[in-house]
Amino acid sequence: MQDLKTVILHNREIAPGYFRMAILAPGYPQQALPGQFIMLRVQANSQPLLRRPFGIFKTGTLPAECSGMPEREFVELVYKVVGIGTQLMSTLQRGDEVELLGPLGQGFTLDKTATEHLLVGGGIGLVPLFMLAETLCRRGDRVRLLVGGRSRDDILAITEFERLGVETYVATDDGSLGEEGLVTAVLERKLNKYPQAAVYACGPTLMLNAVRSICHRQQVALQVSLEALMACGVGACLGCVVPGHQHSEDDPDYLCTCRQGPVFDADELKWPEGGPEGGE
Ligand SMILES: Cc1cc2nc3c(=O)[nH]c(=O)nc-3n(C[C@H](O)[C@H](O)[C@H](O)COP(=O)(O)OP(=O)(O)OC[C@H]3O[C@@H](n4cnc5c(N)ncnc54)[C@H](O)[C@@H]3O)c2cc1C
Ligand code: FES
Repeated sequence: MQDLKTVILHNREIAPGYFRMAILAPGYPQQALPGQFIMLRVQANSQPLLRRPFGIFKTGTLPAECSGMPEREFVELVYKVVGIGTQLMSTLQRGDEVELLGPLGQGFTLDKTATEHLLVGGGIGLVPLFMLAETLCRRGDRVRLLVGGRSRDDILAITEFERLGVETYVATDDGSLGEEGLVTAVLERKLNKYPQAAVYACGPTLMLNAVRSICHRQQVALQVSLEALMACGVGACLGCVVPGHQHSEDDPDYLCTCRQGPVFDADELKWPEGGPEGGE
């Protein structure tokens, strides 16, 4: 883990309200694992905000034409503007300074037995799935991405997954891209066809509850990446705890999302009894 004072390489809007930001980040291509995250602090006027957590979308090295830079390795984020911090981030430009803490947390565990993988992303939940797809494709496995959103504007970066060789399936609430309906309906169909697949999911809580119900019923392995509210990102504030599977009034059994997650085996977590089947 490094705490870097660094600069932005680019920051551009890719769909209404969604941005993509690359940050100079020496060492990240070697260190960052699929599913890990960073904490970003934006220096604004004299009032630095709290750090904000963001999944690592990808890492890489700048092409030779940018080699005027002393260090050329970068980390890339994809983010949605939802409040004061992300609004401020959206105004930043190449060369602006930020503080980057990471890579943080426990990412996805690569299933050693499964060779079929279903990656399920809801909206911005697609972010941590890209490096996972890259890694699984590199070892020759079959990867399918199922992605859902309210409308076509919420479906991001699909072609980059396709360039890896990933088959992609899109569902939108309004039918403006892909099929009309919930991504969980696509998951049920795909699991009927590929019952041995391992499933990995990130997205809104209702979607994760529904994915978990389906996987539990079909008895397939599921890992989920959670987006809990985080203040410190390093296990100090306990602001990000979630109930573990044994949690009850007598047994707190809390898990710290930033240290023990954000990726968990679904069986480690407490899920709503008979949770929703089709919500997103
Ligand atoms: C491990 C992890 C990875 C994440 N990866 C991404 C990512 O790749 N891209 C991305 O756009 N966002 C991601 N998030 C969520 C992101 O951290 C928040 O959207 C961001 O902190 C909001 O900051 P803000 O100051 O703009 O909003 P605030 O002003 O702090 O909040 C605005 C609204 O957003 C809600 N909110 C804030 N944080 C979260 C959260 N973690 N989950 C749900 N609701 C929240 C608040 O309750 C409030 O209603 C991730 C969160 C975690 C924990
Ligand atoms: S965010 Fe502080 S302990 Fe996890």
